[in-house]
Amino acid sequence: MTDAPTLDVAKIRADFPILDREVNGHRLVYLDSAASSQKPRQVVEAMDRYYETTHANVHRGVYQIAADATHAFEEARAKTARFLGASDPEEIVFTKNVTEALNLVAHSWGRANLREGDAVLLTEMEHHANIVPWLQLQQERGIELRYLPVADDHTLDLTDLDRLIDGVKLVGVTAMSNVLGTIPPLDRIVTAARSAGALVLVDGAQWTPHLPTDVAALDCDFFGFTGHKMLGPTGIGGLWARREILEAMPPFLGGGEMIRDVRLDGFTPNEVPWRFEAGTPPIAEAIGLGAAIDYLEALGMAAVRRHEVELTSYFMRTLSERFGDDLTIHGPSEPAERGGVLSFAFRDLHPHDISQVLDQEGVCVRAGHHCAKPLMRRMGVGATARASLYLYNDEADVDALGDALESASDFFDF
Ligand SMILES: Cc1ncc(COP(=O)(O)O)c(C=O)c1O
Repeated sequence: MTDAPTLDVAKIRADFPILDREVNGHRLVYLDSAASSQKPRQVVEAMDRYYETTHANVHRGVYQIAADATHAFEEARAKTARFLGASDPEEIVFTKNVTEALNLVAHSWGRANLREGDAVLLTEMEHHANIVPWLQLQQERGIELRYLPVADDHTLDLTDLDRLIDGVKLVGVTAMSNVLGTIPPLDRIVTAARSAGALVLVDGAQWTPHLPTDVAALDCDFFGFTGHKMLGPTGIGGLWARREILEAMPPFLGGGEMIRDVRLDGFTPNEVPWRFEAGTPPIAEAIGLGAAIDYLEALGMAAVRRHEVELTSYFMRTLSERFGDDLTIHGPSEPAERGGVLSFAFRDLHPHDISQVLDQEGVCVRAGHHCAKPLMRRMGVGATARASLYLYNDEADVDALGDALESASDFFDF
C-alpha cells in the first residue's frame, strides 16, 4: 500500500466541523475514533436532505416519496455490499450496530445449529460483543467455548490452532483488536477452519473503517461491521453472510417487515435479508452510511490505510523517543502489521487520571477496559489509556498528545 496516494489531511479536516471547536480553551484533538469516528458534513447533509425531501416508511407505501425512500435505503445496501466486496446486496442484513450483527449470528445460526457439547472457538482478544452472546448460548445450550490465546508480543498465538480448532462448528475472530491494534492472520485461520469443517465469523468493527474489505477474498462466512466507526451515523451496522447460510437461518426478531404472511396459528418469514430486519429499519442512518462509504471510496481505502500506518509509525517513534521507559505502547511493534489503535501505560498513572488530565488540554483519549475484560486480565492490567487514529488526524495531533502527557507528568509530580 506504500504506492497508494497520500491523504490531504488539511482538506479532509475541513469536512469535519467538530474539529474546529475548542475544548477547555484548546483546539479539539480527537484521538478516540476506535470508540466512534467523527462525521464529515457530507454524511450529515445526506441525512438532512433525506429528511427534508424524501422521508416516508420503506417497503410499504406505493406513493412517490415512499418509493424514493425505499430506493435510497436499498441503494445504501448495494453500496455497502460493494464496499465489503460482496457481489449480492441481499447478503447484507442491516442491524443497529456490530453488536446486534454478532448476536444475530449467535442467536439465529447458533440456536439452529449448535447442540450441547458442540464447540465454538473464539480468541482471548475479542470484544465482549463477540464473547457474551456465545456465553449466553453456553448457558442455554451447554456448548463448549475454546479460546485462542494471546502471545506475549500481543499477536494471536496460533501454536495450538490445529488442536483447538479440531471439531469446532464455528470460529469467531476479530479482524483487528480494539485494544492492541493486532491484526490476526485471518487467512491462516480460515484455511484451518475449512479443514476442520467450521464456519468463520469475522468481527470487522475495527477493520472496515481502516483497510480495504473483501469478504469474497477473505472467504469467511459471516462478517460484521458498524457504521459509526467508519464515518457513518450511530444506529446502523450490519452483517454480511453467504446467501445459502442466511436462507437456512430462522428469523431473530419477530414483527412487521420480516414476514411474508401471518395467520393466527403461524407465520411465513420474508426473504433474506428482510427476514432479519423486523420493524421500521434505520432508514436515514443507512443513507448516512451510504454517504460515508462514498466519502471513503473517494479517498480510497489503500490511501486511508497508508496514512494510518505512517501516523502510527510517527506515534510510536516520536512518543517513545520523548518519554523512553515512562511510556509503554501495547500491541505489535511493527506499524505496518497493526492498526492505529494505541493502548498505552504512562509512568504509574491510572488511565482514568491520564484521560482526565489530557482532556484539560483538549485531547480526547479513552480509558478503561474497552469492553475486553478477558484481554485485560491476560495483559495483567485493569485498564489502559487508548489513543486511536483516523484519517483526519495528523502529526500535530500526536505532538499535542505528547505535550499533554508532559503536562500530566508535571501535574502528578506536583
Ligand atoms: C472489535 C469490536 N467489536 C465490537 C464492537 C462493538 O461495536 P458497537 O458498539 O458499534 O456494536 C467494538 C466497539 O468498540 C469493537 O471495537
